[in-house]
Amino acid sequence: MVAAILLKGLTAQVLVNEIYSVKPGDRVLVHAAAGGVGSLLSQWASHLGAHVIGTVGSEAKVEEAQRSGCRHVIQYRDEDFVARVEEITGGAGVQVVYDAVGKDTFSGSLASLAPCGHLANYGQASGPVPPFEVSMLFPKSNSLSRPNVFQHLQTPEKLRNAAATLFKALNDDVLRPGHIATFALAEAAQAHREIESRSRKGAVILSI
Ligand SMILES: NC(=O)c1ccc[n+]([C@@H]2O[C@H](COP(=O)([O-])OP(=O)(O)OC[C@H]3O[C@@H](n4cnc5c(N)ncnc54)[C@H](OP(=O)(O)O)[C@@H]3O)[C@@H](O)[C@H]2O)c1
Repeated sequence: MVAAILLKGLTAQVLVNEIYSVKPGDRVLVHAAAGGVGSLLSQWASHLGAHVIGTVGSEAKVEEAQRSGCRHVIQYRDEDFVARVEEITGGAGVQVVYDAVGKDTFSGSLASLAPCGHLANYGQASGPVPPFEVSMLFPKSNSLSRPNVFQHLQTPEKLRNAAATLFKALNDDVLRPGHIATFALAEAAQAHREIESRSRKGAVILSI
């Protein structure tokens, strides 16, 4: 379980507590909400009192995202997630978007932000975000980060504190690791194919 959760959980802890501190009543958009980091982010943000909207790539992942605390789940391969977020928030937008999908979602994530909202682009599962004009942040006074979790855990003290926060959240049932698929090292190629196919929910680990 620790192999499946440590990096993903530390990433979620940095995102919800440091990059943007989620507060009760915040509207939060989490992309790939049934994925490894996405499901932990959804659980943590909803525990902090946020109204979490999740996106997922297929019908099979909707229930998983709901179990992780998403009040609304958008199937973003079939639905226009920007229009759905606008409808769900009554046009107000969200205070923060946690986006590790990258190329396919970046512009829609920006469009979904409320005034003074923050976009945390922490990954690029669909490909790198193309260069963009920074003045696009101006009209709504939005902010953007491209966080690297390791830069936030550089000293032993920071790592210990972040790990203590993570393990407390696990002990308190704030976080519930979902599906963990274990592949033998010899099946690594198959594990990669399954990740690429987007058919997997939760974490995929190799057993050595
Ligand atoms: N910045 C950092 O320090 C940091 C640290 C850890 C992880 N990460 C990044 O966080 C992301 C999530 O990590 P994870 O462990 O949670 O991975 P994961 O469980 O595999 O989640 C990735 C999800 O992205 C979605 N996705 C959208 N387009 C995709 C595409 N073209 N190909 C594959 N997946 C696609 C899929 O969900 P749907 O099918 O529902 O769309 C998939 O489940 C990764 O990009 C990873 O590199 C960043």
